[in-house]
Amino acid sequence: MDEQQKIGHHEPSRILVFSSSLRKHSLNTSLAKLAATVIEKNGGIADFANMSEFDCPSFNQDLEDEKFHPPGAEELRKRILANDAFIIASPEYNGSMPGMLKNSIDWVSRFRPQPFNERHALLMSASPSMGGGNKALWSLRMPLEHLGSNVFPNMFSLATAHKAFTPEGTIADPTLAKRFEDNIEAFMNLVEAAKNYPCIKKAWVEFLGEQIDPVTERVELSS
Ligand SMILES: Cc1cc2nc3c(=O)[nH]c(=O)nc-3n(C[C@H](O)[C@H](O)[C@H](O)COP(=O)(O)O)c2cc1C
Repeated sequence: MDEQQKIGHHEPSRILVFSSSLRKHSLNTSLAKLAATVIEKNGGIADFANMSEFDCPSFNQDLEDEKFHPPGAEELRKRILANDAFIIASPEYNGSMPGMLKNSIDWVSRFRPQPFNERHALLMSASPSMGGGNKALWSLRMPLEHLGSNVFPNMFSLATAHKAFTPEGTIADPTLAKRFEDNIEAFMNLVEAAKNYPCIKKAWVEFLGEQIDPVTERVELSS
């Protein structure tokens, strides 16, 4: 047992935070920036990224067969692996996540080891609508859980987001602001616990329960 463990000190959790909007005045980027400040306030390390760093050409399996991975996918993989967890603030487009986010997820899912497996994820959204973009998060949960990520149950969706921020970039309503912070803090506690007491180790089987067939067989054991 080293000195840090003996006195109960752990390395701070590192969390990748990005918004899946490319828009300059994006509401989701504002929310992601706010999440990064809450992480730092609670003793974590926020690795803030822009979606433009992870943008990829349309997925084409022919390119993959030629061992090609676009730079955006390489970067997202690198940043996922360099952190303990990730937070995505995503716009809702037509009741779902933006296509460009799903496209990047598809590209990254083709690396082995598969980077999303066993990573903790927190999802949030912002929209001018009353739904706050919440449907985007349910659609985003699906591929991430499929890929073995532990998606935090509580997702934060900021409704009427065009009116929700102060000029300083905080959430104007104090009750909502507290819920936002409490949710991130709860997520950070889980990330911290999972990092130091790895109890959620498992085998990732992409098509669990299916007949064994080399075409679909993708299995990874916990490290
Ligand atoms: C193609 C498109 C589809 C949209 N569909 C929805 C939708 O289904 N639900 C919703 O709440 N807002 C929808 N919006 C509005 C977005 O929530 C709004 O533009 C938001 O500000 C985008 O996020 P951003 O500010 O982070 O870029 C849509 C916007 C676009 C451009």
